[in-house]
Amino acid sequence: MVNITAGLLGVVLIARHGDRLEFFQDPYTYTPTATYITPLGEVEEYISGQNLASLYLTPSSPSYINGINTTLADIDQLVFRADASGEGTVILNSMYALVQGMFPPTTYSNVTLSNGTTVTGPLGGYQYIPIQSVENTLDISLNSFTSCPNFDNHTAAFYASPQFQATAMEAAPFLMDLAPYLDGRSTNFTNMFNIFDYVNVQSIHNKTFYDMLPPTFLEQAYYYANFHEYGVFSDVSPGGIGNIAIQTVLPSIFTDLQSFANTSNPLKLALNGVSYKPFISLFNITQATVANPEIAGIVDYASVVALELSEGADGPTVTMKFRNGTTDMEFTTLPMFGNLTSVPLTQFINALAPYAINTTAEWCYACNQTTLNGCAACTLP
Ligand SMILES: *[C@@H]1O[C@H](CO)[C@@H](O)[C@H](O)[C@H]1NC(C)=O
Ligand SMILES: *[C@@H]1O[C@H](CO)[C@@H](O)[C@H](O)[C@H]1NC(C)=O
Ligand SMILES: *[C@@H]1O[C@H](CO)[C@@H](O)[C@H](O)[C@H]1NC(C)=O
Ligand SMILES: *[C@@H]1O[C@H](CO)[C@@H](O)[C@H](O)[C@H]1NC(C)=O
Ligand SMILES: *[C@@H]1O[C@H](CO)[C@@H](O)[C@H](O)[C@H]1NC(C)=O
Ligand SMILES: *[C@@H]1O[C@H](CO)[C@@H](O)[C@H](O)[C@H]1NC(C)=O
Ligand SMILES: *[C@@H]1O[C@H](CO)[C@@H](O)[C@H](O)[C@H]1NC(C)=O
Ligand SMILES: *[C@@H]1O[C@H](CO)[C@@H](O)[C@H](O)[C@H]1NC(C)=O
Ligand SMILES: *[C@@H]1O[C@H](CO)[C@@H](O)[C@H](O)[C@H]1NC(C)=O
Ligand SMILES: *[C@@H]1O[C@H](CO)[C@@H](O)[C@H](O)[C@H]1NC(C)=O
Ligand SMILES: *[C@@H]1O[C@H](CO)[C@@H](O)[C@H](O)[C@H]1NC(C)=O
Ligand SMILES: *[C@@H]1O[C@H](CO)[C@@H](O)[C@H](O)[C@H]1NC(C)=O
Repeated sequence: MVNITAGLLGVVLIARHGDRLEFFQDPYTYTPTATYITPLGEVEEYISGQNLASLYLTPSSPSYINGINTTLADIDQLVFRADASGEGTVILNSMYALVQGMFPPTTYSNVTLSNGTTVTGPLGGYQYIPIQSVENTLDISLNSFTSCPNFDNHTAAFYASPQFQATAMEAAPFLMDLAPYLDGRSTNFTNMFNIFDYVNVQSIHNKTFYDMLPPTFLEQAYYYANFHEYGVFSDVSPGGIGNIAIQTVLPSIFTDLQSFANTSNPLKLALNGVSYKPFISLFNITQATVANPEIAGIVDYASVVALELSEGADGPTVTMKFRNGTTDMEFTTLPMFGNLTSVPLTQFINALAPYAINTTAEWCYACNQTTLNGCAACTLP
């Protein structure tokens, strides 16, 4: 008989970056151009980190991670990484702000020297917690959808599909009305992400633009961008290339969850800083959109998915929770595979393992990429 304790065995976090400047992505290849985080984005992430600390690092919280060091971070318990490919430094900087909110400076970060002097770290005991910068030329796992010819073909096929064409027709009158506000940007529906991003960023940062833009235009642009991005970053088949943004994250999710379940392994908290794309693919392959259709789109800045591992009567179970940005700090449980709020770890892994892309060589093959990101050295199976 397993002794079921309160609290969690560990948590895998998937976190989106905070507010940033305009971000242009080629609609056919998703090749990015650099952008920069803003102080607002840093604040959003810091608040997100404080919220995560109140849930997971507070012993009185029902979601406390058993045995995790709260005041002073124990880096053996943590694995933090961030996509450093697409949005330049935006995601990495976001994760630094999040981690500062989660593990703030503490005078416990001190050392007493042989001469009797106690020295506290800079900035009131700032905790220097490593966050791995994941660049897709070296490690494709967090940004696997660029330089991927088969993904580009999937995107082109979506653009050619009847439902895309129909939605483009539906959006055309709106885009004509919006055109004067776009400073010359293409109103081709293929460009819908960039159109929305421009309108959203300007609405947040530019008072002249904000005052001029007619009501509902931002909401309409968001609606069409959600349709556009959901089609690009999902697939009719869970193992299809449209879901590649999460397929390459799955191996680390499995490893981290299994480590939490292994009492000889110190790991308790994993953080993956990413863009909005892995969220779309994750919700598609776990079928979370069945019970919560409203999540099928671009999640807000500083959104978080938490995959919580807890001890169940028949072994560890996984629960998926989601917080949309930082406006509402409540997490919602997202039932997976239709209606399961809590899935045994073995079932979770068995259901998703067939779609995992485990190695660079597998990625090269899935993408039909033969030269870039290390693929020249790979033998395609
Ligand atoms: C974390 O807590 C454990 C148990 O209290 C302790 O042995 C360990 O030294 C702590 N680590 C740090 C970095 O404080
Ligand atoms: C230094 O850290 C220890 C815990 O490791 C704590 O007990 C002590 O109060 C701290 N000293 C100062 C001066 O904050
Ligand atoms: C102890 O050593 C530290 C670091 O070298 C130095 O800053 C401090 O002045 C020393 N304290 C005394 C009392 O000598
Ligand atoms: C993508 O589609 C084009 C034309 O439709 C085709 O020539 C090309 O071989 C395809 N590429 C891949 C990687 O499938
Ligand atoms: C959008 O761009 C694509 C590719 O250049 C083109 O085939 C299509 O006709 C354009 N659509 C409109 C409405 O201009
Ligand atoms: C702010 O918006 C106005 C109106 O669209 C535009 O003319 C101006 O260039 C924008 N300012 C910046 C800094 O983008
Ligand atoms: C549990 O973790 C320990 C320490 O990392 C490792 O040596 C061991 O192989 C793990 N056990 C399993 C079943 O994975
Ligand atoms: C996954 O995405 C595909 C393609 O957009 C869609 O047809 C399918 O309904 C989605 N699956 C779920 C469970 O929402
Ligand atoms: C997330 O919040 C934004 C507002 O900040 C809202 O427009 C959007 O619909 C929300 N998405 C979900 C899935 O709740
Ligand atoms: C969950 O879905 C399965 C299969 O569709 C169904 O048999 C079961 O009754 C559902 N359970 C709940 C709690 O809705
Ligand atoms: C990837 O790893 C999972 C186990 O985590 C395994 O089930 C799956 O078969 C592997 N995929 C390939 C293509 O080897
Ligand atoms: C891979 O891409 C090449 C072009 O680079 C194309 O000739 C070939 O058909 C593609 N293979 C597959 C399996 O899509």
